[in-house]
Amino acid sequence: MNRIFSGVQPTGGLHLGNYLGAIRNFVTLQDSYHCIYCVVDLHAVTTWQDPAALKANTREVTAAYLAAGVDPERCIIFNQSQVGEHAELAWIFNCVARMGWLNRMTQFKEKAGKHRENASVGLFAYPNLMAADILLYKATHVPVGDDQKQHLELTRDIAQKFNNDFGVDFFPICEPLILGSATRVMSLRDGKSKMSKSDPSDYSRIAMTDEADAIAQKIRKAKTDPDPLPGPEALGPDGEVPEDARGARPEACNLLGIYAALAERSLAEVLGEQEGAQFSRFKEDLTELAVAKLGPIGAEMKRLMAEPDHVDAILRRGAERAHAIAHPILDEVHEIVGFLRP
Ligand code: TRP
Repeated sequence: MNRIFSGVQPTGGLHLGNYLGAIRNFVTLQDSYHCIYCVVDLHAVTTWQDPAALKANTREVTAAYLAAGVDPERCIIFNQSQVGEHAELAWIFNCVARMGWLNRMTQFKEKAGKHRENASVGLFAYPNLMAADILLYKATHVPVGDDQKQHLELTRDIAQKFNNDFGVDFFPICEPLILGSATRVMSLRDGKSKMSKSDPSDYSRIAMTDEADAIAQKIRKAKTDPDPLPGPEALGPDGEVPEDARGARPEACNLLGIYAALAERSLAEVLGEQEGAQFSRFKEDLTELAVAKLGPIGAEMKRLMAEPDHVDAILRRGAERAHAIAHPILDEVHEIVGFLRP
């Protein structure tokens, strides 16, 4: 069976964008792939994390996986730092990847900003660790958002260069899986920027643990425009909102996209039903739907986070299973590279 690897950083404040863009897809994929879902704490510490918060956030991501419906028996759920092989393979990849390749990474440029000299070395080498995550299990498919495509390209380049340099056919060349149209959930306050945990306004996002009244209030306050919803003929031949229409009504498109994603229906179906509706009305339907879908997940997350021992036991067991796959693969890498082994 093909193998999937994906990860979410435990940096706190999981929101609707994380759910629709990543975690929800993890649940669907477990039916057709062998799936390994990681809480990437080593990636999180490329920027400063408060130690107590890091522990809580690691449990939060784990709880989100479980509450959304990832099955810890069929899938492997673990936190990255418990499997030392990730850091070991990343070191070898630090010696495979070229400075020029990493210098081109747009995410580093965005995250480091004007303070490049002050960014951690780990933040610069971040994509090498991500490549190690994936290749340590010889994963073939990686579900990621748009923003991670460049890192996945780099993973393919590293696999290829490793294979070439050592004259082996060892690492597979993995494929991205970009799923569903709602993988890009935008801010509720500005339809042109992504929903993000770092947005200063709480009203810009719906947290996975928000209660019904918070969800309702945020949707009520969400930015829209005075026009009603169009009919399905406004969509392009691919069933998506055409680029110019999105540009003209970014907030309207975002709410429509969120609705369709939560309802697990096409945009055409939703517009067929909602044609001519004003946003004041549409928001009521959206609130009802969001509360129905997210409410039980948020409640289950809170229940799990109140039982840290249970969550930790799942991670420990996952780490053992991950280690059992990763260890022999890293062993072979050591042999290929020429390290003397015991
Ligand atoms: N970089 C990814 C993100 O921020 C998280 C991640 C780390 C990841 N390792 C991975 C995703 C391996 C997919 C596969 O979203």
